[in-house]
Amino acid sequence: MALDIDFVRKQFPAFAEPSLNGQAFFENAGGSYTCQPVIDRLTRFYLQRKVQPYAPYEASRLGGAEMDEARARMAAILGVETEELSFGPSTTQNTYVLAQAFRQWMQPGEAIIVTNQDHEANSGPWRRLAEAGIEVREWQIDPETGHLNPEDLEDLLDETVRLVCFPHCSNVVGEINPVTEITAIAHAAGAFVCVDGVSYAPHGFPNVGELGPDIYLFSAYKTYGPHQGLMVIRRPLGELLPNQGHYFNAGVLYKRFTPAGPDHAQVAACAGMADYVDQLAAHHGVAETDAAARGAAVHDLMRAHEVALLQPLLDAVSARNSVRLLGPDRAEGRAPTVALALNRPAEPVAADLAQYGIMAGGGDFYAVRPLGAMGVDPAQGVLRLSFTHYTSKDEIAQLIEALDRVL
Ligand SMILES: Cc1ncc(COP(=O)(O)O)c(C=O)c1O
Repeated sequence: MALDIDFVRKQFPAFAEPSLNGQAFFENAGGSYTCQPVIDRLTRFYLQRKVQPYAPYEASRLGGAEMDEARARMAAILGVETEELSFGPSTTQNTYVLAQAFRQWMQPGEAIIVTNQDHEANSGPWRRLAEAGIEVREWQIDPETGHLNPEDLEDLLDETVRLVCFPHCSNVVGEINPVTEITAIAHAAGAFVCVDGVSYAPHGFPNVGELGPDIYLFSAYKTYGPHQGLMVIRRPLGELLPNQGHYFNAGVLYKRFTPAGPDHAQVAACAGMADYVDQLAAHHGVAETDAAARGAAVHDLMRAHEVALLQPLLDAVSARNSVRLLGPDRAEGRAPTVALALNRPAEPVAADLAQYGIMAGGGDFYAVRPLGAMGVDPAQGVLRLSFTHYTSKDEIAQLIEALDRVL
């Protein structure tokens, strides 16, 4: 069964918004449109439940219950225990807190591995552990292709390595890394694994339990939700690392690595992402009673639609001599996040595209290290064209036509 794109687009008010009419959105890797159930829940929370949650009066009880519902339902889709999922202000802030926990837990002389394929959020906070005497080893991409080779990781691992950090998918290379394979390699060497899933999760929520990493992070404002960072920490690691929250909350796993008070309304509205998955599942006749199975079916519907739309775009851009496509030119192995290095600064080209109704961006996208490693001047940046399952065939055609005019 193919994704019903008309049904999908009806769930996003942005597509009916007059001020956005005629404009095709291609900066989804920066942040997605928000689905109706999330907007409804956020609105309801602010109108009816905007009181301190978990107190014994009705508005408060409902607010707290909705926050719990969001955690339980998203955890179920992700294939992990409810307590293993926590909400923080952003992925960058979540990795920052995690890095403080590792800094306290690790000993000088022990090592971590980071990549030069990651967005800075899953790189810089870990690299700063060098200040505490921790050895930081860099797993490097191929400078031509941007590919991260798991065999190179094996050469970096030894008994001193405690943690391996890498992206499920880079926000400029776009290639989907084999998380299960890499995790198995790291685990065999006795290291924990932290995966940045920010660039992957918008293309279908993964079953993190099956994938296997100890930590998996993504940002809800890119997965049709509110501005929150979702963080899975599997229980054995979460209980091992020192608590970063209030001392009296140390016994509650989901509070251990979110020291700030949560944004109640946005946490509650995250349940709208689960509503959306369920709406898509029901509409497409997915009969699974298990949330992770429904999530997997919806994931596959989204991916199939994206892959079909992506290949013509990849073909169109790779046919141009003046353009360097970063990452693979086959749609199957990559996310629809297409970064192009041009022979000039990218941002003015994005501005030119805007004249043809294309919303896209140019710059380094905080992927300064991968761009540098691939020989792209971060000051010139890349033109990034990123879409999701709600993008239509017509919008891809509009983009390719606009590229013909501006490139
Ligand atoms: C791959 C990747 N990781 C991490 C982040 C940071 O996420 P946040 O904005 O939630 O801190 C981004 C943001 O663009 C990203 O693209």
